[in-house]
Amino acid sequence: MKDMQTSAITTIKTAWRCPSNIAIVKYWGKYGNQLPCNPSLSLTLSASFTEVELTLSPKTSSEEVQLTYFFEGATNPKFESRIKNYLLANKQYFPYLNDYALSITSTNSFPHSAGIASSASAFGAIALALLDAAYTLTDRPRDHVFFQEASTLARLGSGSASRSIYGGYVMWGEDAAIANSSIELATPITHIHPNFQDLRDTILIVEDEPKKVSSSVGHSLMNDHAYAENRFKQAQERVSELIQVLQAGDINRFMHLAESEALTLHAMMMTSNDYYLLMKPGTILAIEQLLEFRKETGIPVCFTLDAGPNLHILYPGSVEKEVIQFIETKLKPTYKSLIHDRMGTGPIRLVD
Ligand code: PMV
Repeated sequence: MKDMQTSAITTIKTAWRCPSNIAIVKYWGKYGNQLPCNPSLSLTLSASFTEVELTLSPKTSSEEVQLTYFFEGATNPKFESRIKNYLLANKQYFPYLNDYALSITSTNSFPHSAGIASSASAFGAIALALLDAAYTLTDRPRDHVFFQEASTLARLGSGSASRSIYGGYVMWGEDAAIANSSIELATPITHIHPNFQDLRDTILIVEDEPKKVSSSVGHSLMNDHAYAENRFKQAQERVSELIQVLQAGDINRFMHLAESEALTLHAMMMTSNDYYLLMKPGTILAIEQLLEFRKETGIPVCFTLDAGPNLHILYPGSVEKEVIQFIETKLKPTYKSLIHDRMGTGPIRLVD
């Protein structure tokens, strides 16, 4: 949205909603400027999202980056300085920083204390809004190049955010079967079998405290990890296999890959030089109950984990009733609250 006059510096507003995503094959380990040591593949969610409103107005100070940032109505100096550093490091993409002051307001659909990784949706929404303003100022159409650039810019803020720019199943990194796949930006996977087109993700909030070890520390611990090279190779092979599985509709293989990836990610943490443990008793209890439930009923339901204790329970929409009933009865003692999410279609621009 641009004000009436086009020549002088004017006020520009834009707003984007960007969903979170859950990796099936995990990105864990990075190098250089936010480049992944292995490819990853995730499911973009729908109900868990961040909304960002960006306003550009004429600068009133000589600061290199003039920024105010509000999260859910309050200042948040820690995240504000993370965004400021991000803008300073990537200034060449946003030439308007010389003339404009930025005001960003951000909200999450999920409770702040839910312990859900929010950097993917947050940096996805921020990158989309920042780039959108640059496109408005230069009168460019928001075509597929816009989304490719947004994915690259989101990656520079938080690696997993690169994948949130697209809906459905999205990979980041290189795979021979996916044309133009890249370590710099994410690529959506097409020709997904109907078995995977209505996937649900019920998130068990087992713990809502902020995690003890940040993802960036976790990534850095892969630098001198005894099993790193094997892990990177394994993830590369698993992304190739998962693409085939998603296109062929092989639910059993999908469940095996998802669960093994979750446990492998946590095994990497437990076997780092500075070892640590993010699973809680409730996480393990819920996993054991879930495996038993699947064995007894044959219902296709599996779990995955992010870098935290909260269990993501994945299942097709066709078994929703049975799975929710199981969660709300058998798993009740293991969680504080639930988020019912599902596969989503990607970011939305919230202004005309
Ligand atoms: O995007 P980051 O740096 O917060 O790392 C995310 C890493 C995992 O969530 C554990 C895995 C992934 O691929 O999303």
